Amino acid sequence: MIAITARRLASILGPWRSSGSPAYAALADRVRLVSLDGRLAHGTRLPAERDLAAALRVSRTTVASAYGRLREVGAIESRRGSGSFVSLGTRPSADPAADGIPLDFTKAAMPAALPVAACYAAAAQRIGPELARSGYEIVGHPELREAIAAHFSRRGVATDADQILVTSGAQHAIALLARLLASPGDRALIEHPTYPHAIDAISSARARPVPVPVDPDAGWDLDEAEAALRDAAPTVGYVMPDFQNPTGASLPDDARARLARAADRHGTVLIADETTMWLDLRRGPRQPLAAFSPSVVTVGGLGKLAWGGLRVGWIRAGRTFIARLAQSRTSMDLGTPVFEQLVAVELMAREADLVAERRARLSEGLATMRSALAEHFPAWTIPDPEGGLALWIDCAPWSSSELVLGARDEGLALTAGPRFGLHGAFEHRLRLPFTESPATIRDAVEALRRSADRHASGPLPEPLVAV
Ligand SMILES: Cc1ncc(COP(=O)(O)O)c(C=O)c1O
Repeated sequence: MIAITARRLASILGPWRSSGSPAYAALADRVRLVSLDGRLAHGTRLPAERDLAAALRVSRTTVASAYGRLREVGAIESRRGSGSFVSLGTRPSADPAADGIPLDFTKAAMPAALPVAACYAAAAQRIGPELARSGYEIVGHPELREAIAAHFSRRGVATDADQILVTSGAQHAIALLARLLASPGDRALIEHPTYPHAIDAISSARARPVPVPVDPDAGWDLDEAEAALRDAAPTVGYVMPDFQNPTGASLPDDARARLARAADRHGTVLIADETTMWLDLRRGPRQPLAAFSPSVVTVGGLGKLAWGGLRVGWIRAGRTFIARLAQSRTSMDLGTPVFEQLVAVELMAREADLVAERRARLSEGLATMRSALAEHFPAWTIPDPEGGLALWIDCAPWSSSELVLGARDEGLALTAGPRFGLHGAFEHRLRLPFTESPATIRDAVEALRRSADRHASGPLPEPLVAV
């Protein structure tokens, strides 16, 4: 059983008060939101009413009424004598479709690219000889490892197949790396905001995240990154150098060199997640972070370029490290399915077509999203990222969490800004993926406008100081 302390819950909830509803209702709404988006796991025991009231500096009645409201809607269960527990009902992973929400913008993902079906058919033609082998490819199918190594070599970092481990998606790669590189209590440098499931992987390893700001316009605060590397001596750092999720920012080449040098100086292993690397709308190529230091470990995958359902990713690192990873992997799984690896071999040979198709779709999605937002939210400053999957919008004067909760009732599921950060930060930010079709994007922005109209907009409360 997981229990959460009142202080920790207060930190996750962030600035939860709402100008438009009574405190108990706003508190209940916020607890519901953080459990729906995964910040609070199903089954977590909530703090006693008295403790939470003290941590939030509200009356015990406010907390009791909030718990009561959550109980009524089935979002928590209370058991006499043992407390109140977060409940997602019968579906432990929050799925908007299961809640009857038609527009799912919680995932920055696209349907399969056109060549994917043909690649499955080609792989089916080639599976025969594989069936005569054991099928346990713990480091990956030799042909796919060759194709991935060639992809890195083409981009200027000479790579052999034995520097590659094939994983079941990039997320699997991040989780494997977090487990191997971070021990409980270690520091882990992260970008802030960052990709939420990387925070999850770091938290699962019981490492302590050290956030470094990334701004959609100004990019990385490298002075702060250097100071964090020096002062916190993190064992590991997780960065997305290309079209960072969620900001869309990219690290310039000279900043890559500076970051890699600083990490080397302080013995921090940098994980460069290149999952979004191919989604370049108008930036042009950059050197991989791995070009600047042999100790950089690179993560990649075909989820965004080809299809999320393929579940093929990889890790590029030194040979000895790959051998250690292979050993550590076997407690979790014994390889990625061979059939999907053959599909991936086919896809890697069609890289140029896939990139062109994704660029066309995302360019159209971005243009549609920007014009719909300009029409419905004329006061917002709308970013124009060079690539990636989403806009990281400053949604002030609305609170991101309020907009997201209101949008659910309007048929639109979104992820609130604080899910991308720590301690309730980014309550004035909303991630809006532009991966869907133009018609769906327009519907989503209209639903968002209806959600905004539900809320009296007021000044945002200050984020809580980290506790
Ligand atoms: C930055 C980043 N890394 C990793 C992943 C996970 O990718 P995969 O589907 O290959 O596990 C995603 C998916 O959203 C992502 O945005």
